[in-house]
Amino acid sequence: MLLLGLLLPGLAAATTEQERLAKGEALAFDRNAGNCLSCHVMAGGELPGNIGPPLIQMRLRFPDREVLRAQIWDAAVRNPDTLMPPYGRHSVISEEEIDQVVDYIHTL
Ligand code: HEC
Repeated sequence: MLLLGLLLPGLAAATTEQERLAKGEALAFDRNAGNCLSCHVMAGGELPGNIGPPLIQMRLRFPDREVLRAQIWDAAVRNPDTLMPPYGRHSVISEEEIDQVVDYIHTL
């Protein structure tokens, strides 16, 4: 019983984390939300576009999550001529949704 008591909270946390990542993935793939697939190749995504670079090895290339979030919040800060929509600045998706997308993208 003691062991179960120690294990269960961990299991619950893992499920929540998985649900969160699944939400991030759904938002990234959704043509009416993130729509990241229209420009980026992403693992598991169908019919991707290639206007932007493939989203691969993200943790290696963006060790700092905040740098990744800033890119998604407003890509124009890094590149004023970017074609990528400023998801945060234009409130395309909510701050909470941006965090879910960032967490998911960080796993790619
Ligand atoms: C209309 C096309 C377009 C859409 C939609 C788009 N992006 Fe981009 N994205 C780009 C382009 C182009 C770049 C290359 C850098 C630049 O031009 O600013 C880029 C760069 C990035 C980068 C930096 C990649 C690197 O290797 O440096 C990340 C991360 C990123 N996008 C994530 C996303 C996410 C997440 C979404 C969806 C929420 C998204 N993008 C939607 C066009 C797009």
